[in-house]
Amino acid sequence: MTDQTLDQADGTASLDSELGPTGRPHREFPEPAALRSHGPARIIALCNQKGGVGKTTTSINLGAALAEYGRRVLAIDFDPQGALSAGLGVQSHDVTTIYDLLLSRQLDPIDAIQKSSVEGLDVIPANIDLSAAEVHLVNEVAREQILAGVLKRVAPLYDVILIDCQPSLGLLTVNALTAAHGVVIPLECEYFALRGVALLIETIDKVRDRLNPAIQLDGILATMYDARTLHSREVLERVIGAFGDDVLETVITRTVKFPDATVAAVPITEFAPEHQASKAYRQLARELVFRGAVA
Ligand SMILES: Nc1ncnc2c1ncn2[C@@H]1O[C@H](COP(=O)(O)OP(=O)(O)OP(=O)(O)O)[C@@H](O)[C@H]1O
Ligand SMILES: [Mg+2]
Repeated sequence: MTDQTLDQADGTASLDSELGPTGRPHREFPEPAALRSHGPARIIALCNQKGGVGKTTTSINLGAALAEYGRRVLAIDFDPQGALSAGLGVQSHDVTTIYDLLLSRQLDPIDAIQKSSVEGLDVIPANIDLSAAEVHLVNEVAREQILAGVLKRVAPLYDVILIDCQPSLGLLTVNALTAAHGVVIPLECEYFALRGVALLIETIDKVRDRLNPAIQLDGILATMYDARTLHSREVLERVIGAFGDDVLETVITRTVKFPDATVAAVPITEFAPEHQASKAYRQLARELVFRGAVA
Protein backbone atom coordinates (compact mmCIF):
# COMPACT_ATOMS: atom_id res chain seq x y z
CA MET A 1 0.00 0.00 0.00
CA THR A 2 1.44 3.36 -0.92
CA ASP A 3 1.51 6.35 1.40
CA GLN A 4 -1.23 7.89 -0.67
CA THR A 5 -3.70 5.07 -0.27
CA LEU A 6 -2.86 4.98 3.45
CA ASP A 7 -3.63 8.66 3.73
CA GLN A 8 -6.78 8.21 1.73
CA ALA A 9 -8.01 5.39 3.93
CA ASP A 10 -9.66 7.79 6.38
CA GLY A 11 -11.72 9.15 3.50
CA THR A 12 -11.38 12.73 4.70
CA ALA A 13 -9.43 14.29 1.87
CA SER A 14 -8.83 13.27 -1.69
CA LEU A 15 -5.29 12.95 -2.97
CA ASP A 16 -3.93 13.12 -6.43
CA SER A 17 -0.70 11.49 -7.43
CA GLU A 18 1.51 14.59 -7.33
CA LEU A 19 3.46 15.91 -4.39
CA GLY A 20 2.51 19.42 -3.32
CA PRO A 21 5.15 22.13 -2.83
CA THR A 22 5.61 21.14 0.82
CA GLY A 23 6.67 17.63 -0.23
CA ARG A 24 3.50 15.98 1.00
CA PRO A 25 1.00 14.43 -1.44
CA HIS A 26 -1.20 17.17 -2.82
CA ARG A 27 -4.75 16.95 -1.55
CA GLU A 28 -7.90 18.98 -1.75
CA PHE A 29 -9.30 19.49 1.73
CA PRO A 30 -13.02 18.70 1.94
CA GLU A 31 -15.65 21.39 1.76
CA PRO A 32 -16.62 22.27 5.35
CA ALA A 33 -20.08 21.26 6.50
CA ALA A 34 -22.53 24.11 7.02
CA LEU A 35 -22.76 25.34 10.61
CA ARG A 36 -26.12 24.96 12.33
CA SER A 37 -25.36 27.65 14.88
CA HIS A 38 -22.77 30.39 15.21
CA GLY A 39 -20.20 31.45 17.78
CA PRO A 40 -18.45 31.83 20.06
CA ALA A 41 -15.54 32.76 17.85
CA ARG A 42 -12.14 31.14 17.84
CA ILE A 43 -9.64 34.00 17.69
CA ILE A 44 -6.64 33.71 15.35
CA ALA A 45 -3.78 36.22 15.27
CA LEU A 46 -1.95 36.61 11.96
CA CYS A 47 1.47 37.42 13.23
CA ASN A 48 5.03 38.00 12.04
CA GLN A 49 7.19 40.95 13.07
CA LYS A 50 8.77 40.91 9.62
CA GLY A 51 7.07 43.39 7.31
CA GLY A 52 5.42 42.57 4.01
CA VAL A 53 5.07 38.80 4.42
CA GLY A 54 1.34 38.57 3.67
CA LYS A 55 -0.33 39.06 7.09
CA THR A 56 -2.89 41.55 5.79
CA THR A 57 -3.41 39.78 2.47
CA THR A 58 -4.03 36.55 4.36
CA SER A 59 -6.37 38.17 6.91
CA ILE A 60 -8.47 39.62 4.07
CA ASN A 61 -8.56 36.61 1.78
CA LEU A 62 -8.76 33.88 4.41
CA GLY A 63 -11.58 35.89 5.99
CA ALA A 64 -13.39 36.16 2.66
CA ALA A 65 -12.90 32.46 1.90
CA LEU A 66 -14.22 31.41 5.33
CA ALA A 67 -17.21 33.70 4.82
CA GLU A 68 -17.88 31.96 1.48
CA TYR A 69 -18.12 28.72 3.47
CA GLY A 70 -20.80 30.26 5.65
CA ARG A 71 -18.55 31.16 8.58
CA ARG A 72 -19.23 34.46 10.31
CA VAL A 73 -15.92 36.27 10.28
CA LEU A 74 -14.75 39.43 12.03
CA ALA A 75 -11.41 40.88 10.88
CA ILE A 76 -9.66 43.19 13.33
CA ASP A 77 -7.31 45.75 11.81
CA PHE A 78 -4.57 45.88 14.44
CA ASP A 79 -2.03 47.86 12.47
CA PRO A 80 -1.84 51.68 12.42
CA GLN A 81 -1.14 51.47 8.66
CA GLY A 82 -4.83 50.54 8.28
CA ALA A 83 -4.07 48.28 5.31
CA LEU A 84 -6.78 45.76 6.19
CA SER A 85 -9.41 48.49 6.45
CA ALA A 86 -8.32 49.93 3.09
CA GLY A 87 -8.10 46.50 1.48
CA LEU A 88 -11.68 45.75 2.47
CA GLY A 89 -12.91 49.21 1.51
CA VAL A 90 -14.23 50.21 4.95
CA GLN A 91 -14.12 53.63 6.57
CA SER A 92 -11.27 54.18 9.00
CA HIS A 93 -11.60 57.93 9.64
CA ASP A 94 -14.40 59.64 11.58
CA VAL A 95 -15.59 56.25 12.78
CA THR A 96 -14.95 54.25 15.94
CA THR A 97 -11.71 52.29 15.52
CA ILE A 98 -9.98 49.57 17.49
CA TYR A 99 -7.85 52.30 19.09
CA ASP A 100 -10.96 53.96 20.56
CA LEU A 101 -12.12 50.60 21.91
CA LEU A 102 -8.75 49.93 23.58
CA LEU A 103 -8.80 53.30 25.29
CA SER A 104 -12.40 53.64 26.36
CA ARG A 105 -14.39 51.03 28.17
CA GLN A 106 -17.52 53.16 27.78
CA LEU A 107 -17.71 52.34 24.05
CA ASP A 108 -19.57 49.27 22.87
CA PRO A 109 -17.31 47.27 20.48
CA ILE A 110 -20.40 46.17 18.55
CA ASP A 111 -20.91 49.77 17.43
CA ALA A 112 -17.46 49.78 15.79
CA ILE A 113 -18.24 46.84 13.48
CA GLN A 114 -18.50 47.62 9.78
CA LYS A 115 -19.67 45.38 6.94
CA SER A 116 -17.31 44.61 4.06
CA SER A 117 -18.43 43.93 0.50
CA VAL A 118 -18.35 40.21 1.35
CA GLU A 119 -21.45 38.80 3.01
CA GLY A 120 -20.44 37.40 6.39
CA LEU A 121 -17.11 39.27 6.62
CA ASP A 122 -17.14 42.24 9.02
CA VAL A 123 -14.34 44.57 10.09
CA ILE A 124 -13.26 46.68 13.03
CA PRO A 125 -11.00 49.29 11.41
CA ALA A 126 -7.80 51.04 12.46
CA ASN A 127 -5.97 54.16 11.42
CA ILE A 128 -2.77 55.96 12.34
CA ASP A 129 -4.16 56.84 15.80
CA LEU A 130 -3.35 53.26 16.80
CA SER A 131 0.37 54.10 16.69
CA ALA A 132 -0.14 56.03 19.96
CA ALA A 133 -1.79 53.07 21.69
CA GLU A 134 1.39 51.47 23.05
CA VAL A 135 2.32 54.71 24.81
CA HIS A 136 -1.18 55.14 26.23
CA LEU A 137 -1.57 51.54 27.36
CA VAL A 138 1.83 51.07 28.93
CA ASN A 139 0.68 52.31 32.35
CA GLU A 140 -2.70 50.52 32.33
CA VAL A 141 -3.47 47.72 34.74
CA ALA A 142 -3.34 44.37 32.91
CA ARG A 143 -2.16 46.21 29.82
CA GLU A 144 -1.63 42.98 27.87
CA GLN A 145 -5.25 41.90 28.27
CA ILE A 146 -7.08 44.93 26.96
CA LEU A 147 -7.80 43.60 23.46
CA ALA A 148 -9.00 40.31 24.97
CA GLY A 149 -11.52 42.31 27.00
CA VAL A 150 -12.74 44.16 23.90
CA LEU A 151 -13.15 40.95 21.89
CA LYS A 152 -15.12 39.20 24.63
CA ARG A 153 -18.08 41.40 23.76
CA VAL A 154 -18.09 40.55 20.03
CA ALA A 155 -16.92 36.90 20.12
CA PRO A 156 -20.43 35.45 20.65
CA LEU A 157 -21.53 36.91 17.29
CA TYR A 158 -18.85 35.24 15.14
CA ASP A 159 -17.33 31.86 14.33
CA VAL A 160 -13.84 33.24 13.83
CA ILE A 161 -12.04 36.49 14.57
CA LEU A 162 -8.86 37.23 12.59
CA ILE A 163 -6.43 39.78 14.04
CA ASP A 164 -4.16 41.40 11.44
CA CYS A 165 -1.09 42.30 13.53
CA GLN A 166 1.40 45.02 12.77
CA PRO A 167 5.02 44.08 11.96
CA SER A 168 6.39 44.33 15.50
CA LEU A 169 6.53 42.33 18.72
CA GLY A 170 5.44 45.25 20.88
CA LEU A 171 2.57 45.62 23.31
CA LEU A 172 -0.12 45.57 20.60
CA THR A 173 1.09 42.24 19.26
CA VAL A 174 1.33 40.87 22.80
CA ASN A 175 -2.30 41.98 23.26
CA ALA A 176 -3.23 40.07 20.09
CA LEU A 177 -1.40 36.95 21.28
CA THR A 178 -3.05 37.21 24.70
CA ALA A 179 -6.52 37.47 23.13
CA ALA A 180 -5.93 34.66 20.62
CA HIS A 181 -6.66 30.94 20.72
CA GLY A 182 -4.29 30.36 17.82
CA VAL A 183 -1.58 31.96 15.72
CA VAL A 184 -0.97 31.68 12.00
CA ILE A 185 2.49 32.83 10.92
CA PRO A 186 2.73 33.90 7.28
CA LEU A 187 6.27 33.38 6.03
CA GLU A 188 7.49 34.80 2.73
CA CYS A 189 9.50 32.29 0.68
CA GLU A 190 12.51 34.60 0.59
CA TYR A 191 16.08 34.23 1.73
CA PHE A 192 15.68 35.90 5.15
CA ALA A 193 12.30 34.30 5.86
CA LEU A 194 13.49 32.32 8.86
CA ARG A 195 15.34 35.18 10.46
CA GLY A 196 13.26 36.41 13.35
CA VAL A 197 10.93 33.42 13.47
CA ALA A 198 12.77 31.98 16.47
CA LEU A 199 12.18 35.26 18.33
CA LEU A 200 8.50 35.18 17.34
CA ILE A 201 8.11 31.59 18.60
CA GLU A 202 9.91 32.61 21.80
CA THR A 203 7.44 35.49 22.24
CA ILE A 204 4.50 33.11 21.73
CA ASP A 205 6.05 30.75 24.32
CA LYS A 206 6.41 33.60 26.82
CA VAL A 207 2.79 34.65 26.28
CA ARG A 208 1.77 31.00 26.78
CA ASP A 209 3.75 30.84 30.06
CA ARG A 210 2.61 34.12 31.52
CA LEU A 211 -0.65 35.30 29.97
CA ASN A 212 -2.45 32.80 27.76
CA PRO A 213 -1.72 29.12 28.54
CA ALA A 214 -4.11 27.87 25.85
CA ILE A 215 -2.54 29.59 22.85
CA GLN A 216 -1.71 27.24 19.97
CA LEU A 217 0.40 27.52 16.86
CA ASP A 218 -2.24 26.87 14.19
CA GLY A 219 0.30 26.80 11.42
CA ILE A 220 3.03 28.42 9.39
CA LEU A 221 1.81 29.59 6.00
CA ALA A 222 4.31 29.83 3.16
CA THR A 223 3.48 32.87 1.03
CA MET A 224 4.80 34.45 -2.17
CA TYR A 225 6.08 31.09 -3.34
CA ASP A 226 7.44 30.89 -6.85
CA ALA A 227 7.81 27.30 -8.04
CA ARG A 228 9.86 28.46 -11.03
CA THR A 229 12.76 29.58 -8.84
CA LEU A 230 15.13 27.18 -7.17
CA HIS A 231 15.50 29.81 -4.46
CA SER A 232 11.82 29.71 -3.47
CA ARG A 233 11.86 25.89 -3.44
CA GLU A 234 14.99 25.83 -1.27
CA VAL A 235 13.53 28.29 1.24
CA LEU A 236 10.35 26.22 1.52
CA GLU A 237 12.45 23.08 2.04
CA ARG A 238 14.33 24.77 4.88
CA VAL A 239 11.11 25.99 6.47
CA ILE A 240 9.77 22.42 6.40
CA GLY A 241 13.06 21.13 7.77
CA ALA A 242 12.69 23.53 10.69
CA PHE A 243 8.95 23.29 11.40
CA GLY A 244 7.74 20.00 9.87
CA ASP A 245 4.00 19.44 10.11
CA ASP A 246 3.44 22.91 11.58
CA VAL A 247 3.87 24.13 8.01
CA LEU A 248 0.44 24.24 6.44
CA GLU A 249 0.05 22.18 3.29
CA THR A 250 -1.55 25.12 1.53
CA VAL A 251 1.06 27.36 -0.09
CA ILE A 252 0.27 30.81 -1.46
CA THR A 253 2.11 31.52 -4.71
CA ARG A 254 3.37 34.91 -5.79
CA THR A 255 1.01 36.68 -8.16
CA VAL A 256 0.46 40.26 -9.23
CA LYS A 257 -3.29 39.74 -8.75
CA PHE A 258 -2.91 40.55 -5.01
CA PRO A 259 -1.71 44.14 -5.46
CA ASP A 260 -4.41 44.54 -8.15
CA ALA A 261 -7.14 43.36 -5.75
CA THR A 262 -5.79 45.72 -3.08
CA VAL A 263 -6.21 48.67 -5.42
CA ALA A 264 -9.80 47.56 -6.06
CA ALA A 265 -10.30 47.28 -2.23
CA VAL A 266 -11.87 43.82 -2.45
CA PRO A 267 -10.60 40.33 -1.59
CA ILE A 268 -9.05 38.42 -4.46
CA THR A 269 -11.84 35.87 -4.07
CA GLU A 270 -14.20 38.60 -5.36
CA PHE A 271 -11.76 40.37 -7.71
CA ALA A 272 -10.77 37.20 -9.54
CA PRO A 273 -12.85 34.34 -8.11
CA GLU A 274 -11.45 31.68 -10.45
CA HIS A 275 -7.81 32.76 -10.15
CA GLN A 276 -5.45 30.17 -8.74
CA ALA A 277 -4.75 32.53 -5.78
CA SER A 278 -8.44 32.64 -4.86
CA LYS A 279 -8.50 28.86 -4.98
CA ALA A 280 -5.42 28.78 -2.74
CA TYR A 281 -7.11 30.90 -0.06
CA ARG A 282 -10.22 28.69 -0.23
CA GLN A 283 -7.94 25.68 0.20
CA LEU A 284 -6.35 27.42 3.21
CA ALA A 285 -9.81 28.02 4.70
CA ARG A 286 -10.69 24.35 4.21
CA GLU A 287 -7.34 23.22 5.66
CA LEU A 288 -7.85 25.29 8.81
CA VAL A 289 -11.34 23.84 9.28
CA PHE A 290 -9.90 20.36 8.60
CA ARG A 291 -7.21 20.93 11.25
CA GLY A 292 -9.80 22.15 13.75
CA ALA A 293 -8.48 25.71 13.88
CA VAL A 294 -11.85 27.03 12.67
CA ALA A 295 -15.34 25.65 13.36
N1 LIG B 1 1.09 36.00 -2.75
C1 LIG B 1 1.42 37.24 -3.10
N2 LIG B 1 1.92 37.51 -4.33
C2 LIG B 1 2.25 38.75 -4.68
N3 LIG B 1 2.13 39.83 -3.90
C3 LIG B 1 1.64 39.65 -2.68
C4 LIG B 1 1.24 38.35 -2.20
N4 LIG B 1 0.79 38.48 -0.93
C5 LIG B 1 0.89 39.78 -0.63
N5 LIG B 1 1.39 40.49 -1.65
C6 LIG B 1 1.69 41.91 -1.73
O1 LIG B 1 2.83 42.14 -0.92
C7 LIG B 1 2.68 43.33 -0.16
C8 LIG B 1 2.76 42.99 1.33
O2 LIG B 1 1.68 42.13 1.66
P1 LIG B 1 0.84 42.36 3.00
O3 LIG B 1 0.47 43.78 3.13
O4 LIG B 1 -0.24 41.35 3.02
O5 LIG B 1 1.96 41.98 4.05
P2 LIG B 1 1.97 42.31 5.61
O6 LIG B 1 2.74 41.20 6.25
O7 LIG B 1 0.61 42.57 6.10
O8 LIG B 1 2.81 43.67 5.63
P3 LIG B 1 3.03 44.64 6.90
O9 LIG B 1 4.03 43.94 7.75
O10 LIG B 1 3.56 45.90 6.29
O11 LIG B 1 1.71 44.80 7.57
C9 LIG B 1 1.35 43.93 -0.57
O12 LIG B 1 1.58 44.86 -1.58
C10 LIG B 1 0.58 42.74 -1.14
O13 LIG B 1 -0.36 43.13 -2.11
MG1 LIG C 1 -0.13 44.22 7.14
